[in-house]
Amino acid sequence: MLRLTMPLFDGEELEEVRRVLETGYLTQGPCAGRMEEAVRGMVGTAHAFAMSSATTALHLSLVALGIGPGDEVLVPDFTFPATANVVVQQGATPVLVDVRPDTYALDPDALAARVTPRTRAVIPVHPFGLSAEMDPILAFARARGLAVIEDAACALGAGYRGAPCGALGDLGCFSFHPRKSVTTGEGGMITTDRDDLAARIRLLRSHGGVRGDYYLVFEDAGFNYRMSDLQAAVGVAQMRKLPAILARKRALALRYTELLQNVPGVTPPIEPEGCLHTFQTYVVALDDALDRDAIIAALRERDIETTLGTYALHAQPFFQRAYGYAPGDLPISYRLFRQTLALPLFAQMTAGEQERVAAALAACLAMGGVTR
Ligand SMILES: Cc1ncc(COP(=O)(O)O)c(C=O)c1O
Repeated sequence: MLRLTMPLFDGEELEEVRRVLETGYLTQGPCAGRMEEAVRGMVGTAHAFAMSSATTALHLSLVALGIGPGDEVLVPDFTFPATANVVVQQGATPVLVDVRPDTYALDPDALAARVTPRTRAVIPVHPFGLSAEMDPILAFARARGLAVIEDAACALGAGYRGAPCGALGDLGCFSFHPRKSVTTGEGGMITTDRDDLAARIRLLRSHGGVRGDYYLVFEDAGFNYRMSDLQAAVGVAQMRKLPAILARKRALALRYTELLQNVPGVTPPIEPEGCLHTFQTYVVALDDALDRDAIIAALRERDIETTLGTYALHAQPFFQRAYGYAPGDLPISYRLFRQTLALPLFAQMTAGEQERVAAALAACLAMGGVTR
């Protein structure tokens, strides 16, 4: 089976892990510090905090901002549920906002209709590694005193108008899940320029404890959201490969677009002027007449793994039950949930494998049984 993605490892990860094992220090320590430096150097913020996942990064960002019961947070509907789940976990309400049909990102023009006096923050997602339209989102947020948390889970290395994703809002949250360009198994990172938020995150990431001369003093009821040094060991080796991985994935993505440009029924992803797409995931949109799930099944029969782009949150049972949404309430996101298809893309993929995917997709579309 040609997999959707495969991490790129060589002896460097093993060597870094071996060194950490030899120190005997396995929780968060100097290696996590090196991982933070690597990400901070790339994103350019004053602070970077190594976390156990992007989900805990997003959750701690909300906690640091003091968001809680009674508050509302604007969240794009077309995203992995973690973006909104963390809002629920804080006792606040995620208010779902529709996305743009061409970029799949939060539609800035849809924000005004969803804001209320209770709105405290907005979490723009950079879908699949393409920056959301940050200038109008930031202008909207600043005019109303809302905080901006970038869900940059897929966007390490992405840019918007010359600035790195993760440095555009008040806080940026990254993921090192194995589907991302570089991985620590599970892992995440918070980036921020704000010293006040950094102080809260430093305290709350590790139990709320402050180191005294001989032991900790607990100033707050915190979490254990730390990335371990074992995970960071994998990460520092991965970060050295990141520029090469991103360059290779970009070349493959552009080639996919060439191969698929004239395949009827398929719309390749776009990269608007001023945006640097990481192509964390290569996601195409299929015409409405096509049955996306039948195409996933047909490609599986050809030994090719594909999947949906991502979820329309309002159409998931929890969000329907909790907030009364019905499928189709956010129509663009709902269409993308049903019609987008993620194709295999990873740095080690060969040109031959890629041509096989493009040809198999075209063949599936041409055969019967894949229309609704
Ligand atoms: C947009 C988005 N946000 C958050 C997450 C959660 O990341 P993690 O698995 O590191 O918690 C993901 C994971 O795929 C994601 O795609």
